[in-house]
Amino acid sequence: KALVREDSLWAGLEVVESIGSTNSELADRAREGVAEAGSVLVAEEQTAGKGRLDRVWTAPPRSGLFFSVLLRPEPPVSRWGWLPLLAGVAVAGALARAAGVDMGLKWPNDVLTVTGGEERKVGGLLAERVGEDMVVLGIGLNVTLRTEELPVPTAGSLALAGAQGVDRDPLLRAVLRGLEDWYGRWTASDGDPTGSTLLEAYAAGCVTLGRTVRVELPGGDELVGEAVAVDGDGRLVVASEQGVQQPVAAGDIVHLRP
Ligand code: BTN
Repeated sequence: KALVREDSLWAGLEVVESIGSTNSELADRAREGVAEAGSVLVAEEQTAGKGRLDRVWTAPPRSGLFFSVLLRPEPPVSRWGWLPLLAGVAVAGALARAAGVDMGLKWPNDVLTVTGGEERKVGGLLAERVGEDMVVLGIGLNVTLRTEELPVPTAGSLALAGAQGVDRDPLLRAVLRGLEDWYGRWTASDGDPTGSTLLEAYAAGCVTLGRTVRVELPGGDELVGEAVAVDGDGRLVVASEQGVQQPVAAGDIVHLRP
């Protein structure tokens, strides 16, 4: 509790030693009515961490920050696709300042370090709807992970990007502050960040925009084209070679060029 200001968005912060998944636990508590909006749940270790699209999120105990926040967003549900994106802006900003490392965002939910032209995933965001009006937003960040501990070869950590000795407590505080800030701006624009500083900040940090991408759609179909924009609902707009623009709400992105 000492980690959160009295007047902040955050209603309370709990740190647990080990848990299956902070997202699942907070969602369960919300359904049972024992967690309020603004709750923050942090785990030193997750034994069943979840990633997007039914994947797993694995990390050794205490090697990073693994936490979830419970939100009751005011903007319409159609705009909630922006939640992982605005969280990405908050996380990338906090990490860049704390670690002095260049960060990038890969649409929709990956946070990357960019060092010497090499991009590595150091963070993931997972927004899950709970009931009608709530969302649990999970954030996983690799802080001290070493090469031999990487779950996949394309992953990374702040330490591997050259930032040794980054303390997790101040980092968590900085991320929560940033999240509160960007969530507030998104709420103020009623969820449509078009023309706002949020859209500008996202576009400035998003390494997917301007690239040729292959989108693997959830149904198994594929789409190749240039990622040209993110729309008011947080969808990635992909332009085919024929110039047809298609908004993509969910999918896996493979960066092809440049
Ligand atoms: C992804 O990259 O696909 C999203 C990863 C999200 C991981 C975080 S760690 C804290 C929270 N609890 C979970 O089970 N997952 C999220």
